[in-house]
Amino acid sequence: MSDLAVAVPALKPWLDEMAEVAAYLWEKGWAERNAGNVSVDVTPVVAGAALPAGLHERLAASRPELGGHYLLVSGTGRRFRDLARGVPASVCLIRIDDDGAGYQVVGGDDGAQVARPTFELPAHLAVHQSLVRRGASERVVLHTHPTELIALTLLSGYQDEAAVNRALFSVHPEVKVTVPRGVGLAPYVLPGSEALARATVAAFERDHPVVLWAKHGCLAVGTGVVAAFDPIDTLNKAAQLVLLCRGAGQQPDGLSAADLAELVRVFKLRE
Ligand code: 13P
Ligand code: ZN
Repeated sequence: MSDLAVAVPALKPWLDEMAEVAAYLWEKGWAERNAGNVSVDVTPVVAGAALPAGLHERLAASRPELGGHYLLVSGTGRRFRDLARGVPASVCLIRIDDDGAGYQVVGGDDGAQVARPTFELPAHLAVHQSLVRRGASERVVLHTHPTELIALTLLSGYQDEAAVNRALFSVHPEVKVTVPRGVGLAPYVLPGSEALARATVAAFERDHPVVLWAKHGCLAVGTGVVAAFDPIDTLNKAAQLVLLCRGAGQQPDGLSAADLAELVRVFKLRE
C-alpha cells in the first residue's frame, strides 16, 4: 500500500479513485508520457494528522483562501499510466502555508522519493481557491489532453467559445444535458503559467465546469475524480463526431435550436 495511505488511511479512497481515472486517461490515449495532472482538496480527511515537513516552495501568486488546506497532487513528470498501477512517487501531499504564500510537501508515496507537485500547480490552486471562495462542493481539479477536443481548437471556425459550444451541442444531445452552459475556452498561453491560471479561473467563473486550453488540453472540476472525468469524456465524444463528419467532407447536420430548447425544458436544465 502507498506510504500516503499508511500515514493517513482516509486518503486511500482518493488514491484509488485517482488511479482508476488515470487508467481511463491512459487507455483513451489522453495521457501520453507525463501528460495530465490531478489534485484533490483533502483538507477534511487530513487535518490533524502528524506529517513530516518536506520541501518548501514559495508560490508566484499567493492563495490566501487556501491557507492551511491539504492537497493531494500528482507529481510533475510522473506518468498517469504509472499512477494507474500504483507505482510509488506518482503523487504527493502538500500543505498550503497559513498565509497562502507558499506550500510544503508533507508526504509522498515513497519516503525519500517524494514527488514534487505538477508544474500546472498555479492553475490547480487558482481553481481550488475559486471553489473555496464560492463554497462549492467540488474538490477535484483534473487536467488531461483529450485528443479530439484539442484538435477542434486547432481548426479555424472553432476559435471562440460560442462557436465551439454551438458545434459540440449540435452533434450530441448528451452535451447539453451534461454541461448545460457549455465549455469555457482559454486561449493558448504558456503551460504552467500564472496567465493560464488566470484565464482558467475566468472561464470557470463564467460558470463553465470544463475549460478547454486551446492547443493543449482541458481542465475540469468535480466532486470526485470520476465526476471530473465524465463530462470531458462526453465532450470529447462530441468533438470526435464533429471531426468524423468533417472528415467525411460534410458539416454535421446537427440538432436544431428547437431540439436544444426541448432538452432544456424536459430535463429542466440551466441556461
Ligand atoms: P506535469 O508532469 O508537471 O503534471 O505536466 C504535465 C502537463 O500536462 C502539463 O500541462
Ligand atoms: Zn498539459
